[in-house]
Amino acid sequence: EEGMPLEELAETLAVTRVELLDLLFTRGIPLETANILNRDMVKMVCEEYEVEVLDAGAKFMEMAKKKEMLDEEDLDSLETRPPVITIMGHVDHGKTTLLDYIRKSKVVASEAGGITQGIGAYKVLVPVDGEQQTCVFLDTPGHEAFGAMRARGARVTDIAIIVVAADDGVRPQTNEAIAHAKAAGVPIIIAINKIDREGANADKVMQELANFGVVPEAWGGDVPMVKISALKGENIDELLETVMLVAELQELKANPHRNAKGTVVEAGLEKSKGPVATLIVQNGTLKRGDIVVCGEAFGKVRAMFDDRGTRVDEAGPSYAVQVIGLNSVPVAGDEFEVVESLDVARSKAEKFAEALRIQQISSKSGEVKASLSSIA
Ligand code: GTP
Ligand code: MG
Repeated sequence: EEGMPLEELAETLAVTRVELLDLLFTRGIPLETANILNRDMVKMVCEEYEVEVLDAGAKFMEMAKKKEMLDEEDLDSLETRPPVITIMGHVDHGKTTLLDYIRKSKVVASEAGGITQGIGAYKVLVPVDGEQQTCVFLDTPGHEAFGAMRARGARVTDIAIIVVAADDGVRPQTNEAIAHAKAAGVPIIIAINKIDREGANADKVMQELANFGVVPEAWGGDVPMVKISALKGENIDELLETVMLVAELQELKANPHRNAKGTVVEAGLEKSKGPVATLIVQNGTLKRGDIVVCGEAFGKVRAMFDDRGTRVDEAGPSYAVQVIGLNSVPVAGDEFEVVESLDVARSKAEKFAEALRIQQISSKSGEVKASLSSIA
């Protein structure tokens, strides 16, 4: 049950519990329901005391500011949404194998040369206390050429699992992934992988991480670390439990009853489909037929596909879908939103393009000035 305890409100307003109960009673609110006050009750009481309600949704607004995806109007329609978890780490440390095991499919074998090319986004059901809970996992490439994808992964995610191979230790992209997650304010869980391997040294990994300011819970720090073998499936349940625990603490919410907003995680041109974009919905619900604008690209969503390639008609908060119908290929990392008409979409896309041009010109002129000053 969502709400504010009576005690807390009384304390905030510097009145007694009894006084508040009296007030609620005269407004027809029965005492049994008055222990935890919903938003409307809090508002009503505050109006009575001529106190402005600023922080009823403060927690969510803080979240919203961080992600810039929730609006003030959403506060009354928030519903729990699945966590989005990004798997990051150095090349070959076992990210895709881990996701593969979690999905119980065979992603690694089908990838070109075993190197993850883009962000794969997958819906997974995780059993928690005998109940199936939905999570969305994003796989990212560890190769150094894909730094932007890791940065983007960190930005759209609620939790980062950072995979470190126990036989190789902390490497450059491990550090980079940690830095991205920290910069985005995303909680980190470390998966110390390949513990089945000869030469695996989990303690050494923990020591290296601690030196980098990532201190294991087991040593009095605040970063959960789980020793796993992604290949053999060892301790994956424990890792998933840790993920769900961290997710629960975040109280992830969105308003599914509005136009969708979110981020482009991947985009490209496909021979048969034209421009395709993988969009992750961060607020609202994306529907087939919606008009979408993402950066300079816009268009009507002609079809949407889920992570298994199945056609879907809508995608709610936290879900990723591949979308066709855009007039050009958007830039991965751009935000998208649904607007009311193609005209609005076109004008927003044009404004975006114009702003981009100005930005490019001014950075170019900056370069020119810099090179002139180096001559002078
Ligand atoms: P990139 O996407 O290229 O960054 O790599 P990745 O982190 O996704 O690594 P990937 O899952 O492709 O695994 C790399 C290699 O390590 C593969 O040959 C895996 O079979 C192997 N591997 C992954 N996890 C384990 C593990 O727990 N134990 C052992 N022995 N091998 C593993
Ligand atoms: Mg991979």
